[in-house]
Amino acid sequence: MKKVPGIVNKSVIKVLGLIGIIGGISCIPNIAWAIDWSAVEGRDVPVFHPGQASWEWALTQKDHSGAKKFKKDKNCMDCHEEEEPDIGELIASGEKVEPSPIEGNVGSVSINVKFARDESNLHVRLEWTAPPATAGEKMDPDYESKITIMLGEPNVKAAVKAGCWGTCHDDANTMPSASDDQDLKKYLGRSRTKLSRKGGGTNYKSDDELSALLADGYFLEYWQARLNQGSAASAMDGYILKERQENDDVITTAEAEFKDGTWSVVLSRPLQPGKPNHKDIVPGKVYHIGFALHDSHKAKRFHKVSFEYTLMLDEGEADFVAARQ
Ligand code: HEC
Repeated sequence: MKKVPGIVNKSVIKVLGLIGIIGGISCIPNIAWAIDWSAVEGRDVPVFHPGQASWEWALTQKDHSGAKKFKKDKNCMDCHEEEEPDIGELIASGEKVEPSPIEGNVGSVSINVKFARDESNLHVRLEWTAPPATAGEKMDPDYESKITIMLGEPNVKAAVKAGCWGTCHDDANTMPSASDDQDLKKYLGRSRTKLSRKGGGTNYKSDDELSALLADGYFLEYWQARLNQGSAASAMDGYILKERQENDDVITTAEAEFKDGTWSVVLSRPLQPGKPNHKDIVPGKVYHIGFALHDSHKAKRFHKVSFEYTLMLDEGEADFVAARQ
């Protein structure tokens, strides 16, 4: 069996736990590392530089020849599976939908992803080789890398069909129709009363309508690990409807290791947090997920993203099944 770096076996944890109890200090490693990840089948997820290709861009036939079929019955992945590295290279080079290419920015990165669960938590392990650092200004001086997962339920059709693109609008900050007098983060189209080729602007639905959508589970949730070599990872989470909102009461935890140029990160989250704006993750239901990586101190839209994937708990037909180990 392949030995995965950074994984401690269960007996080591028991010993450490005992030392912790005897010593009166907490040195029990995070439970995420107790999963036998070598027994979980991984899947390689390519993430690629999307430039300014927004939801509205993808839906406009003269900009994107997949638009009509996407609106009819095809999802992004139906047409683009395995094309991600080529699309990323084309866009990162500045040849298409990227007016500010970053010198040395590789077009794509392959992330090996594994999901698992224990009694009460969902865990996801992500492993990737860090691409070469890009020179120039550090857009995010605080974190060398950030890895993020977005998750939605079947009711958010845009995320079912297009993953992260469901939130990526043409008028969001740093996108083509952004304007200096508005600060628009990611949002879902249904939070607006109308959308145009430029996005939904500030045509917000009423607070009552937005609250009703949230209560219905009409939002996407995201979890993020923020990474620096040599420091403990920090975790944050949030949700997206009217805008991307960080939670004050973060329930996600992150563990990370950087070794021989490779990051391995485990994000964990309670399956049933029982809180507003947090989803209960239950068996028998399909969840729709997407992945994003900000490498080399990049920020905002300068991330690499995946197309759409599915996740189920315990068993079922999905790209990922989070089973007990
Ligand atoms: C019916 C097939 C089809 C679907 C569905 C589709 N695309 Fe495309 N896409 C294409 C084709 C063909 C091109 C190449 C040229 C173009 O832009 O017209 C393309 C090009 C692109 C490009 C630019 C890179 C390039 O090679 O030109 C991006 C980015 C892209 N698509 C993203 C998406 C996203 C995001 C979705 C889902 C919202 C999507 N596509 C859905 C067919 C499709």
